[in-house]
Amino acid sequence: KTGPAMDTLKELASAGEQFDIVFIDADKPNYINYYNFIIDNNLLRLRGVICVDNCLFKAKVYLKDTTYSNGLALREFNEFISNDPRVEQVIVPLRDGISLIRRVSVTSQNSFSQCNTTDDEVFRGVKGRSILDRMHLDGKVAYVTGGGQGIGRAFAHALGEAGAKVAVVDMDQGKAETVAKELHLKGIHAISITADISRSDDVQRMVDTIVSKWGAIHIACNNAGINMNSASEETSLEEWDRTFNVNLRGTFMCCQAAGRVMLQQGYGKIINTASMASLIVPHPQKQLSYNTSKAGVVKLTQTLGTEWIDRGVRVNCISPGIVDTPLIHSEDLRPLVQRWLSDIPAGRLAQVTDLQAAVVYLASEASDYMTGHNLVIEGGQSLW
Ligand SMILES: NC(=O)c1ccc[n+]([C@@H]2O[C@H](COP(=O)([O-])OP(=O)(O)OC[C@H]3O[C@@H](n4cnc5c(N)ncnc54)[C@H](O)[C@@H]3O)[C@@H](O)[C@H]2O)c1
Repeated sequence: KTGPAMDTLKELASAGEQFDIVFIDADKPNYINYYNFIIDNNLLRLRGVICVDNCLFKAKVYLKDTTYSNGLALREFNEFISNDPRVEQVIVPLRDGISLIRRVSVTSQNSFSQCNTTDDEVFRGVKGRSILDRMHLDGKVAYVTGGGQGIGRAFAHALGEAGAKVAVVDMDQGKAETVAKELHLKGIHAISITADISRSDDVQRMVDTIVSKWGAIHIACNNAGINMNSASEETSLEEWDRTFNVNLRGTFMCCQAAGRVMLQQGYGKIINTASMASLIVPHPQKQLSYNTSKAGVVKLTQTLGTEWIDRGVRVNCISPGIVDTPLIHSEDLRPLVQRWLSDIPAGRLAQVTDLQAAVVYLASEASDYMTGHNLVIEGGQSLW
């Protein structure tokens, strides 16, 4: 936009616009007016920064007896900012000087004490952190089993995007490595671990590898699972055992091995992947062992969630509805998609991205009071 700056600012404010960075230059006598308008009208986003160019005016603002109008205007502006309790600033003494200004967090402001505000954690944020800050996973160490594809891959990306270091665990080495590379490309610290979570030695090696690499495990995402279909009267013990060995026994072994580390740390978040099949009996496909194993994952979650919370370890699970992943693209299941759609109020299958916010929430301190919970995300399917 061109034209008088104040007219543009007014237009932007009346359109409800907000900015991450606002750069102020030229028209020095009016810096204060632009600055006040931007702050008063919330044109600057919560964590936004105002950059002010020429704030030292080649150090002329320091000249004692200057009558130079721009130098005086800048001196007045700098003093005004220094005395404004709403913001903090850093002046970078490069060339003409650049000033970086941002709002101080509410915790360090006393200007609000005169306003009629309720001075509590809702207003100031828990430990001074806003709700989105409380969902950040910076500095946290996470692993995701079954992270090589499907839901686990989406979980690994979500946790990494939120700031965690991520170990991508899968029995398929190539897939785990590919996902770890994807994360690395996005600037996320990631490693891949090849492990079969139905084998106790593999599970212990997974945990030991992560602890020796990163020194801790804060987020354990036990997601690997398998699904086989058969009529119950024909379900073989082999199918039952294979399903339970991965889905329930494997998940328990991961919970226990990661849980031991977390109990010692006095902090941890375990997130198991159960299934809507823990609540309803999905049909028309027949999958007794799967349904039963996933109901077991919910009870495992509830039991550990209550047993360990007093020592700082929260255990929750996510129960997705029918998710569009390779798991449901088998020859047996593919033809059933149309049938399933008529059972889903949302009118579509879940995408893996529909589950990402849930895993970040459960991994973050924002969900610290939640434990033993089964978070169902199924487009309403279990309600029909
Ligand atoms: N897809 C769905 O509709 C759906 C719905 C509800 C719950 N779930 C559950 O979500 C989880 C992930 O499902 P998905 O759809 O992404 O599956 P998927 O088959 O697409 O991916 C599973 C991944 O886990 C790995 N894996 C399998 N067994 C393993 C083992 N023993 N050790 C280590 N890795 C192993 C596989 O190599 C694969 O990369 C499973 O627990 C599944 O039961 C899926």
